[in-house]
Amino acid sequence: MKITAKELRQKWLDFYKSKGHVDIGAVSLIGDGTTGVMFNVAGMQPLMPYLLGKPHPAGKRLCNVQGCMRTVDIDSVGDPSHFTFFEMMGNWSLGDYFKKEKTAWTFEILTDVFGLDKDKLCTTVFEGNASAPRDDETAQLVISLGIKPEHVFYLPKEDNWWELEGTVGTPCGPDNEWFYPLDAEKENPVFPDDYVEIGNDVYMQYKKLEQGYVDTGFGFDRMLLFLNGLHDAYKTDLFTGVISELERASGKKYDDGGEAQRAMRIIADHIRTTVMLIGDSTGVLPSNTGAGYILRRIMRRAIRYCRQLDVSSDALLSVAKIYIEEVYDEAYPLLKEKEEFILDEIKKETDRFETMLVTGMKEFEKCVTGLARKNEFMAKSNPSYVPETVIGGKAAFRLYDTYGFPLELTEELAAEKGLTVDENGFNEAFKEHQEKSRVLAKGEAKGGLESHSEMAVKYHTATHLLNAALKAVLSPDCNQKGSNITDERMRFDFNFERAMTPEEIKAVEDLVNEKIEEDLPVVYKEMSLEEARAEHFVGVFDSKYGEVVKTYSIGEFSKEMCGGPHVEHTGVLGHFHIQKEQSSSAGVRRIKAVLE
Ligand code: ALA
Repeated sequence: MKITAKELRQKWLDFYKSKGHVDIGAVSLIGDGTTGVMFNVAGMQPLMPYLLGKPHPAGKRLCNVQGCMRTVDIDSVGDPSHFTFFEMMGNWSLGDYFKKEKTAWTFEILTDVFGLDKDKLCTTVFEGNASAPRDDETAQLVISLGIKPEHVFYLPKEDNWWELEGTVGTPCGPDNEWFYPLDAEKENPVFPDDYVEIGNDVYMQYKKLEQGYVDTGFGFDRMLLFLNGLHDAYKTDLFTGVISELERASGKKYDDGGEAQRAMRIIADHIRTTVMLIGDSTGVLPSNTGAGYILRRIMRRAIRYCRQLDVSSDALLSVAKIYIEEVYDEAYPLLKEKEEFILDEIKKETDRFETMLVTGMKEFEKCVTGLARKNEFMAKSNPSYVPETVIGGKAAFRLYDTYGFPLELTEELAAEKGLTVDENGFNEAFKEHQEKSRVLAKGEAKGGLESHSEMAVKYHTATHLLNAALKAVLSPDCNQKGSNITDERMRFDFNFERAMTPEEIKAVEDLVNEKIEEDLPVVYKEMSLEEARAEHFVGVFDSKYGEVVKTYSIGEFSKEMCGGPHVEHTGVLGHFHIQKEQSSSAGVRRIKAVLE
């Protein structure tokens, strides 16, 4: 390595500190809610209030190296240069210096500090439009510094204007993007074909009008590849340890290329993102909503690529350990503190998904052979029949709902077979399902509990115990799909793909009775949705961000979001007996039980 990740990080910070900047350090990867963007997609995002004029406690010149996430690129991960998590080297002027100083420092760090050849650097500036003029000032400045005039390109708003997507009224302006040939040895590289973007100086002179602000972002991971004369970002020291671990575990060679190389890159990227999200100060956990669901999708994709690479998912733990202990130990010390927790969460999600993956794959194969059979049959009777190549939305939803297959996993599997998935159909099935759950949840509140009879309240608490027992005995992915309570009995629906065995029924019954005998306290508490999620309460997480939810916990055994009412302690329930376990609908089982 000509320069290691740790050295590059330090060089960036030292350089800007020498120019009067304060290193403000990195903050959480998760958007703070002020911009409405889920993850930080750029280093400037957490600084938004200060870019809008609020004084920053550290002054007007700031710098850092900030972790960012861009899930838009997820399909490109697997190639040599795309990531879901990456770091941005940034510096900012909050109404202090502007174009003259910024162009000079960018030029200085790229040429003097990093040793790039000024004759090879290319740069682009804004060509102007009806609302803002051409950025001649920046063009002249970079030429005066030594950039060849023929290497300065004027481009339209699509290319040379930066603002945070999806936001209004936030600072924006023309930008000055910097490019270098990916293959620095190449004779006469041609712009833009042979070039890659290395960074961006944004001149925020609009919206916040009095003084211009500067927002700089240079891609850390890409710069590292660059400065080491490499052509594959997974060859930098951020990844070498991880790739060798995957080579060792799989017995395959990264340099042989092909599918194994792609799988190694995907695992390397996705587990890095996983570590960063679970280890983030906000501690994202895999779940079915929001940031948690993005994390779950990323983790499940990594687990699937382990199977493709033919390594056990224990490899994910070794990979995570390398990031925590060797690669990011200094820059992200929090990871080390949370190491056990991070590894534990990875293990839990892996265990949860692996068994489902096996049965889900069988289900997926069934969809594919079903389609093939239908095509064969139709072609026989109709020679001009056009074979169907689309997996139906309902089938894709079933894979999602019963086996935890994120839509893009089904889409990827389909693509491998030359098929596509009916995405609209999937979304419709999803909505229909949500609607049904809502109706069921309301129905539950009405049907039986309205009277709040003593018996109905007991049955209601028993459904919570049953829900927790099913998760413990069968799978953590068993979820309540509905319930109906009278004074005489309870009915409880939950997702599970097969009939329970008599042993399983007995185990669930015993566990519920054990918890009744322990006479556990039933505790009511109101908390924010985020707290409820962090404390692993189960329930329908479709409430609004920041909303207060009602929760009930039964000892340490059961934690559910629920409106109540419930008994105060479980001892009063009596003896729990399952009378019947049967199918309710596809992938949903129904239990009838009584309290005796
Ligand atoms: N915020 C700018 C970018 O992301 C620097 O390109």
